[in-house]
Amino acid sequence: MKVLFTGIQPTGDIHLGNYFGAIANWVRLQHEYFSYISVVDLHAVTIPYEPSEMPARVIDLAITLYACGIDLEKTRLFVQSEVPGHADLTWVFNTITPLGELERMTQFKDKRDQFRASVNVGLLDYPVLQAADILIYKGEVVPVGEDQVQHVEFTREVARHFNARFGPTFPECQALLTKTPRVLGLDGDAKMSKSRGNSIGVLETPEQIWAKVAPAKTDPERVRRTDPGTPEKCTIWSYHQLVTKEPELSEIHTGCTTAGIGCIDCKKRFHANLMKVLDPIRERHATLTGTGRKMVEERLEANAAACRAVASGTILEVKEKMGLKKVWKTQS
Ligand code: TRP
Ligand code: SF4
Repeated sequence: MKVLFTGIQPTGDIHLGNYFGAIANWVRLQHEYFSYISVVDLHAVTIPYEPSEMPARVIDLAITLYACGIDLEKTRLFVQSEVPGHADLTWVFNTITPLGELERMTQFKDKRDQFRASVNVGLLDYPVLQAADILIYKGEVVPVGEDQVQHVEFTREVARHFNARFGPTFPECQALLTKTPRVLGLDGDAKMSKSRGNSIGVLETPEQIWAKVAPAKTDPERVRRTDPGTPEKCTIWSYHQLVTKEPELSEIHTGCTTAGIGCIDCKKRFHANLMKVLDPIRERHATLTGTGRKMVEERLEANAAACRAVASGTILEVKEKMGLKKVWKTQS
């Protein structure tokens, strides 16, 4: 089985963009690949954050991932900072990474502009840590969103540099893009994101979600109930594609273009179908937060231990190739 690696930052609550754009894909892929999923807390601390809130963010993300269908047995879900090798390998990779490559990274440039007052070296080094995440497990496939493709390409460069300098060690990984197009925000034009305030959280109650969906903008040309609409101009239609199956999907399309259904009906149908996906997630999340909590904690510990074993093997191999092994040790 090929090795899959992916990471997710413990920032804010998981929304439909995270779920349909990434997590649902990981749930499927865990049956095809030997999967590692890391809650990347060391990445999260490159931007301003509140230390006292971090532990809850980390454990709640792990619980949410399990609630979304990540398998307790199949996938090694673990917390990045519990495996020291990631930071060790980052240092090694730092020494073979040209500064200019990091300064060119789109995400770095965005964050630098966003956090002008607190741009630290970690923010610049972020892709190197990400490369170390992947390569320490010799990851081959990396399912990520479009915005991370540049980082995966950078990881291939790092592997190539290292292999050329010190001998064949790391595979050249492949980004695996989801088929789901980017999930729009409730406001219609931007990408769904918590900070933009246009998101639907996977753990929100049916009532909370309806309160957001009911007033959401639809096709602006569909002013009256009797006006036919163009689904392609409507955010709700794009949401239907995520949760509504045939033949209902086609019925809704026709209903919209012929003014056969109204927008409120259409939204109600979307809401009902979305709840079929989210009800079980919300319920599992409640269980895992309560009685299941200990099991999650134990699983994370065991996974971190398994990751440490793999990681230290890679670090040893790297040190030997780099001439950092204990040649000074007295032979007995
Ligand atoms: N940078 C990724 C993001 O913001 C998270 C991440 C960290 C990651 N390490 C990774 C993704 C390794 C894939 C592989 O989404
Ligand atoms: Fe959008 Fe549905 Fe209204 Fe058509 S009927 S405009 S798809 S909400």
